[in-house]
Amino acid sequence: MGPVGYGAVRTAIVPAAGLGTRFLPTTKTVPKELLPVVDTPAIEYVAAEAAQAGAQRLVLVVSPGKESVAAHFDPNPDLEAGLRGHGKEALLAKVRRAPELIGVEVAVQDKPLGLGHAVGCAEPLLDDSDDAVAVLLPDDFVLPTGVLITMAVIRQRYGGSVLCAFDVPREQISAYGVFTVDDTDEPDVKRVRGMVEKPAPEAAPSTFAAAGRYLLDRAVFDALHRIAPGSGGELQLTDAIALLIDEGHPVHVVVHRGERHDLGNPGGLLRASVDFALKDPEIGPELRSWLLNRLEQENP
Ligand code: G1P
Repeated sequence: MGPVGYGAVRTAIVPAAGLGTRFLPTTKTVPKELLPVVDTPAIEYVAAEAAQAGAQRLVLVVSPGKESVAAHFDPNPDLEAGLRGHGKEALLAKVRRAPELIGVEVAVQDKPLGLGHAVGCAEPLLDDSDDAVAVLLPDDFVLPTGVLITMAVIRQRYGGSVLCAFDVPREQISAYGVFTVDDTDEPDVKRVRGMVEKPAPEAAPSTFAAAGRYLLDRAVFDALHRIAPGSGGELQLTDAIALLIDEGHPVHVVVHRGERHDLGNPGGLLRASVDFALKDPEIGPELRSWLLNRLEQENP
């Protein structure tokens, strides 16, 4: 059950418009978000995380041609009837999980103008009750899940917007949005004084990096209309949040001390798969002994 009250959100936005070039040639025909971690597409984990935090609908922002990502959330009555007829209850439950998780709607981002622009493409689908939205970047697998629930509690306390931060090594910091922070009474909650997208390591204001989970006050959409192209020539979500901060809007981060997999590249997806497979009672034990053996071999 997700949180209720002021901190909770009804709508989760999942930008899924990227071309997935790091997964070519697979992404010639298969959207990156449908690649599996063990047997389940990454997008289903993200939807489950949003639903766990209380979201009732998920707005998938896709580029033209990637609408099939949303089809993963459609029921498949023929497949279900077949599985039921053969008594394959466990598989049936797996097939039915995605459609039962959350309502999915699609917004199309016509041009790749950046993450901020992609999030803005969801705005026409919002209604008056959406005083805040969750944004989940499907490349970021944040474990254990549940940080959105903590973030909602912090939003309830301070208002405004709340983001998830990871403390990353300084040499990796320029891959991220980076926060200038002040301490609060709680060690893992910081007040954000500024945010900058992909700074050089020596210019980074801290080693606290945005980790793909955001609870954003609706005011962010107005800010998104007012930013100019930033890092990489793109409209950056970071710059809209920085604008809100400059205008006095409260922004906090929850520093997440758990694990994170980057599903945006083959190595990261593989690590996530191995991590999950090792925990799987059916696949795990055999994989573990194979891996141990394999790692003893001299050649890579
Ligand atoms: C995006 C955001 C960045 C954030 C990162 C997290 O960057 O722009 O602020 O830190 O996701 O993964 P991207 O990875 O799309 O370049």
